[in-house]
Amino acid sequence: MGRKFPKQTIRDVDLRGKTILLRSDYNVPLTKRGQISDDLRIRASLPTLRYLLEQNCKVIVMSHLGRPKGRDPKLSLKVVADHLSKLLGRPVRLLGDCVGESVRQTVRRAPLGSVIMLENLRFYDEEEADDLVFAKSIQRAVRADYFVQDGFAVAHRAHASTHAISLCVPGLAGLLLEKEYITITKAMSSPKHPLVAIIGGAKVSDKISLIKRLIKKADRILIGGAMSNTFLHCRGVNIGKSVFEPGMEKVVSEIYDLAAAKVGPENVDKFLVLPVDVAVAKEISKDCHRREVSVDHIKGDDMALDIGSQTIETFTKILADAKTVIWNGPLGYAEIDNFAIGSARAALAIAQNNEATSIVGGGDTADFILKWDGHDGASFTHVSTGGGASMALMAGKKLPGIESLLDSYGMR
Ligand code: 3PG
Repeated sequence: MGRKFPKQTIRDVDLRGKTILLRSDYNVPLTKRGQISDDLRIRASLPTLRYLLEQNCKVIVMSHLGRPKGRDPKLSLKVVADHLSKLLGRPVRLLGDCVGESVRQTVRRAPLGSVIMLENLRFYDEEEADDLVFAKSIQRAVRADYFVQDGFAVAHRAHASTHAISLCVPGLAGLLLEKEYITITKAMSSPKHPLVAIIGGAKVSDKISLIKRLIKKADRILIGGAMSNTFLHCRGVNIGKSVFEPGMEKVVSEIYDLAAAKVGPENVDKFLVLPVDVAVAKEISKDCHRREVSVDHIKGDDMALDIGSQTIETFTKILADAKTVIWNGPLGYAEIDNFAIGSARAALAIAQNNEATSIVGGGDTADFILKWDGHDGASFTHVSTGGGASMALMAGKKLPGIESLLDSYGMR
């Protein structure tokens, strides 16, 4: 895979006949009726599970789902266990808890080759508190030989099941974690140029470190979505009723200073590319009309909900020449078809560029891409399962859920 992974993986150790405590991230979106609306994270976990089963392991899977306050039947992992069982083609038994004597008895009696799922870890506050006693109770109940971290999407959290547990049982990386890490870090550290970044979504404050790293690494940064409203507002443009993040003037001016230091003040606007026109509406609703205006003509009661045609043209031309594309955050209000046009045209430009390595950060961008792309994201090099985790890794941050694993031989 090119860049070497710094941690031991499940391929580095003889796991035949071992008991494995597997951390996956099955925090999947649910419909109002409690059905799984996107199973990317479950499907992405299959290679590791299949590998462990080929090694005749007993696999105890653990995950969180949502952000429950205490035990909440609506956030039981039952729906996930059932779906996983269908995809794996074998039973996945969900236990009523993740610690305790009954878990211990069931796991002890389960034969090799079985898959057992622990109930939602976040039913306990101790999980997010990274509580060592709680992690020890999990290990006491399952008596694993190894802990395998494959929940890339939660690897940016230092929680009991991602960090403290590695102090109780030796930790290895799963195949999804390894793939996500290698693909994202390689694209950020040794990209083919031009590297074009697309940054959208709502909050500048969430993405400051990512933007700063991209200023160092990228050749062009295309800014859209509500993020561009904040930038336009800070540059004195009247954005009407558009959603923006207040109080970001200092941050945005620092971003411009960094960009100017890199490309020279005269080239800043070619480097940090803001929309010159936007699609507006008076309100956000499914049937509202898309009207395009230049950014100087946004009216007081207009809301900018997408980039406009001229901007789409500029963005897609830049994307057509890119050799690497990093995309984090939709370019408009992509839940409504009328305002998904900017994101869809950017996706098309990337999909048609056969020479570009394209990495789509998870969360809203991945949701959009998976819906837009009829081939399950296959038009892109990598659609990450991680939202916050992929952003942190792209920003060059160390992820506690990866750091806590055993170092691979000869690497520190
Ligand atoms: C995610 O969906 O980003 C991960 O599952 C982490 O969830 P959290 O943001 O609730 O910690």
